[in-house]
This record gives sequence, C-alpha cells and structure tokens, in this order.
Amino acid sequence: MKTRKMPKVLLLKNGTVLDPLKGTSSKKDIIIENGKIKSIGKPKAPKSAEVLDCTGKVITHGFCDVHVHFREPGREDKETLATGSRAALAGGFTRVCVMPNTNPPLDSPESIRFITEKAADCPIHIHPIGAVTKGQKGMELTEMAAMVREGAVAFSDDGLPIANAAVMRRALEYASMLKKPIINHAEDLDLRDDGIMNEGEMSLKLGLDGNTFLAESMMVFRDIELARLSGAAVHIPHVSTKESVTHVAAAKKNGASVTAEVTPHHLYFNDEALVSYNTHFKVAPPLRSEADRKTLVKGITSGTIDCIATDHAPHTIEEKEATFTNAPFGMIGLESCFAAVNTILKKEKNVSLLDFIALLTVNPRKLMGFDTDLFQEGTEAELTILSPDETWVFDEDSIYSRSLNSPFTGESFIGKVNATLVRGNMTVL
Ligand code: DOR
Repeated sequence: MKTRKMPKVLLLKNGTVLDPLKGTSSKKDIIIENGKIKSIGKPKAPKSAEVLDCTGKVITHGFCDVHVHFREPGREDKETLATGSRAALAGGFTRVCVMPNTNPPLDSPESIRFITEKAADCPIHIHPIGAVTKGQKGMELTEMAAMVREGAVAFSDDGLPIANAAVMRRALEYASMLKKPIINHAEDLDLRDDGIMNEGEMSLKLGLDGNTFLAESMMVFRDIELARLSGAAVHIPHVSTKESVTHVAAAKKNGASVTAEVTPHHLYFNDEALVSYNTHFKVAPPLRSEADRKTLVKGITSGTIDCIATDHAPHTIEEKEATFTNAPFGMIGLESCFAAVNTILKKEKNVSLLDFIALLTVNPRKLMGFDTDLFQEGTEAELTILSPDETWVFDEDSIYSRSLNSPFTGESFIGKVNATLVRGNMTVL
C-alpha cells in the first residue's frame, strides 16, 4: 500500500461511477483538481493530468464506518489514530467515528477536543463519539452539549450498556435536543452473566459459558420503546440476533426513529467457527447461530439494517493468546470489511452492489449528519476504487492495523479495494 499526495490534476479514466445517493451506475471519467471533484462525465483533461486507469473498476463514495475503536488515548500499543487511519485506507474507508471506551474514556469536552485536534493531522476524517456517562459508569450524564461543540457526533458507552433505563431515557432526551443519536451497546450484563459465546448447541458442545440472545434483544426492545417515548433517535450497534432484527423492523414500521448496523463478522461467521477455540472469534456480542446470521443478511435485503460497521477492535497478540475464557472480546475489521461482506452477499445472491455500497456510504453518513453528495463538483474527492469480482486471499500482509487479531486471515474473498482518495492524498493498494 502506498499513500502519496494527489497530483494537481488527476484523471480517473474508464471506470464505472457508482453513485449510491442517486442510485446510478454508468461509465464516466472524473477529473480531480487540487483534491476536489472538478468534473464528471466525458471531460477534457489537460495534457499535464496524471491518468489513473480504472478500466473494469468501480469508483464510488469513500466508505464511512460509524463504529471503530482506535484505543487512543491509553492503549496506543493496540492502535492509534494514525495506525487506525492506515487500516481504514486499506479498507476503502475515508471517514470513521471512534468509540469513547479509551483510557481514560472520551467523557469530557477536553477529551473530545484531544481527538479532533489529533484527527486534523490524520490522512482520513476521524470524528469522536462521546461517552454517555462519566467514566462510562452508567450513572451520571456527561456534558453532552459542550462535547457537541467540540465535535462529538454521537454518544455511546460502547463496550458497556447503559444498564439503567432512567439514565438511558434522560440521555435520549438530551441527545434529541442536540439532534445527535445515542448508540447503546445492547447487552444485559445480568442475563449475559459469564457468557463468552452464543448460548446454544455449540456452547454446550464446547463447554463454554453461553450468552443468551435475549441479553441483546430485550435491551434493543427497551431502547426502541425509550426512544419512542422521548422522540429521540436511537442507533442499534452490532445487531446479532434474529429477535433484534424483528424488533427493529417492527419499530421502523411504527415510525420510531431507529437505525441499525450489522458487522461483517456477524454476517460472515456463525458460532460453529468457535470449534477451533481461536480467540480471534471471541467478540461482544458473540457470533450467533446460522439462523441468526441468515436473518442478518435478510435484514439487509429488506432495508431493516441501515449500515455496515466494522466494530474494529484491536487487541495485542499477547492478550489474545490467553484461554478463550480470559482473552478480551473483539476483532479488527477495517481492512477486510468490503471483501468479506461482498463475498457473502455475492454467494447468497440477494443484494445488488449499489444497495450494498449504500450501507457503507450514504446511510452511515446520513446517520451522522455528514455530507452525502460526494460526486458534486467542488467537493473534496473522498472516493474509493474497487474491483468487485477480483478474487484474493486475505492474509497478514493485508493488515495495516497495529494489531493482528483478525478472524479473516486465510479467507478467500471476492472483491477488492484498489485505491482510496481522501484529504488530498491517494492510497493505492
Ligand atoms: O467485542 C467487542 N470489543 N465489543 C465491544 O463492544 C467493544 C470492543 C472493544 O472495545 O474491544
């Protein structure tokens, strides 16, 4: 992977321009001048223009991930904003939102400013999500308005649920005044108990403590009802069970302001992957049954699921080399996201590339209030170039994160990210 400054004039030639906002896909050339879209169609480029041949490739909006963990401040040995940016560029992501479960957590206006100031020097756009409660302890609300003024785009205690329903209700009311979504990690910790994998036939077979589906879906139902009561927007992260999909679908039908995301790992794997006891498959919420996985894919087809988000969660190899019980929850996912989901959707043949790309671009951007019209002349070139049919094997050389805890290492994929253009730079893979 090589990142360099874009030339003064760059011509993207002979590519298929896929616009997930307008729902169109056609062969066009694009001229980028000084890092901005100059013209699209059959424009005449000056002789001095550098040409990037995009024959057989798709050019689309840069991907946006609303759910990553970059571990800064506190665990820079796992990831930093700079190393996370490289993982993002390798995956076609031009914009990410970082979760606040750092050490210390992003629970004050000053900590939000720390991220926005550091992000200004990064090669992608990075937005902080503020903690809902001080210290992520679930009790006292943070100074949400002041945090929004410093650049917080949403609020979450991710990694931990907001267990107290009254706190969640108040958080939704404040967030609604600020027009920001609350993202609640839906996992009832009492019901989850010591569960480290999905509760079911596989947990019995493997002798590992199970985490019931209800630990998630009950809280999803609660959050939807609380959002309805306060008229606020709630976003459900990493939906993993069929019951949660049913609740989100019903709520959308009834006009509640609810959106939902699904991760590549919950779409790609089921709990049978754990037979190897490989701790890279240990994640919260856990990988579920095949019936759940299939329902998540259907949730994309039906429009119940709005976004794909990686929940990129780097951990050191030393920590992951512990027993399944002791290893931390989480896996990295930025580099493999497009290819993994494209592979599943192609194999299961039910979603068009255009509809899939909307879940990585327009929909997450809408959720966070970011600009959604990226092919407009004069806007910053924030683009991703792809080969949707290229087959390849994902290995450790495909990883640019500071951590290597990917469950996808060794997987054969269909579809590859070839280049990512953002902030005046071009990264060619
Ligand atoms: O598996 C997970 N890891 N789930 C989360 O919600 C948090 C994440 C982390 O921060 O490691």
